[in-house]
Amino acid sequence: MGAPAIAAIPHFVSPLPGRDDGPPMVVEARGDHTAGALAAWLKDNADWVAEALPRHGALLFRGFDVRDAPTFERVARAIDDDLKNDYLGTSPRNALTGYVFTASELPPYFPIPQHCEMTFVAEPPRRLFFCCLVEPAAGSGETPLADFRRVLADLSPALVARFEQHGLRIVRNYSGPRGGRRFDLWRLKRWDEMFDTTDRDVVEARCRREGFEPIWTEGDALRIVSRQAAIRTHPTTGERVWHNHSTTFHLSQAAGEYRRIFRLRPTLRHLAFWRLAQLLERRQRRRPADERAMHCTFGDGAEIAYDDIEAVRDAVWRNLVPFTWQQGDVLAIDNYAVAHGRLPYRGRREIAVCWA
Ligand SMILES: [Fe+2]
Repeated sequence: MGAPAIAAIPHFVSPLPGRDDGPPMVVEARGDHTAGALAAWLKDNADWVAEALPRHGALLFRGFDVRDAPTFERVARAIDDDLKNDYLGTSPRNALTGYVFTASELPPYFPIPQHCEMTFVAEPPRRLFFCCLVEPAAGSGETPLADFRRVLADLSPALVARFEQHGLRIVRNYSGPRGGRRFDLWRLKRWDEMFDTTDRDVVEARCRREGFEPIWTEGDALRIVSRQAAIRTHPTTGERVWHNHSTTFHLSQAAGEYRRIFRLRPTLRHLAFWRLAQLLERRQRRRPADERAMHCTFGDGAEIAYDDIEAVRDAVWRNLVPFTWQQGDVLAIDNYAVAHGRLPYRGRREIAVCWA
């Protein structure tokens, strides 16, 4: 099925300028640009959206009047009404509605590597939605996308075989309500914030449901150990996709990202953060593997070779699309096809998120 008949709809579908394929495909407002018109169009064209989303990996709805979280939620629900609100990732988030959150309250200088959302939980989200409520300064704060099906195809068969054979083991260490700050460079948030409770029994039950192993450690801290496959099959298209958090949780993530961010935008600030991240990585390396703030190894606990994790980052960055946010943009992502991240920024930026 191709694009809907343009004459029959008030909107125009085209690739992102400068790209003839890959995510995101842009649906631009023509005529009635109210959020209500967009929601109605999405419902009327539900078959096209359901087919276009996995095909292109992401759809960007641009030029519509989406200014606040409730309006964004209404638009997202027009695509998928089965929104969820349980978040077990590492970013601190603030609730804007019952189902819409700020995308990340991590400090603006912190680079968020490309990842499909929550690949480490029992049932990762199928779809992810972002909305730009306050656009960042030009040339910063993008939410780059990368088609992880292409990333998989871009990796060497030998590397893919190693990841596929061994799977992955992820360790995350969270401070508790009686110790630690809300976030710093390495301890991302507290376990009571992540699970929205201080009741350890509730935390353990939730961990069991997700296949996590909870380990209480000294100082009211919680270690979570989880295991995941490196590659999954897309639930509707059957395509194989790189679907894991190896580069996100590996202790080399900040330095590895900043090395590439500096290459993309060679500023003194980026150089300083790259050097700082290298320093912190060296300090983390001296700690026993399970005591690091977060780390990823192969499933049997063997370290992933540095060259392998770098090869994955290279493949991700070769496929990176750092499109520029415009206020009111709504981005729908197939979470089993396309990954997202965040480039550093300064000043104001408000991106909202919800998922299904
Ligand atoms: Fe995310």
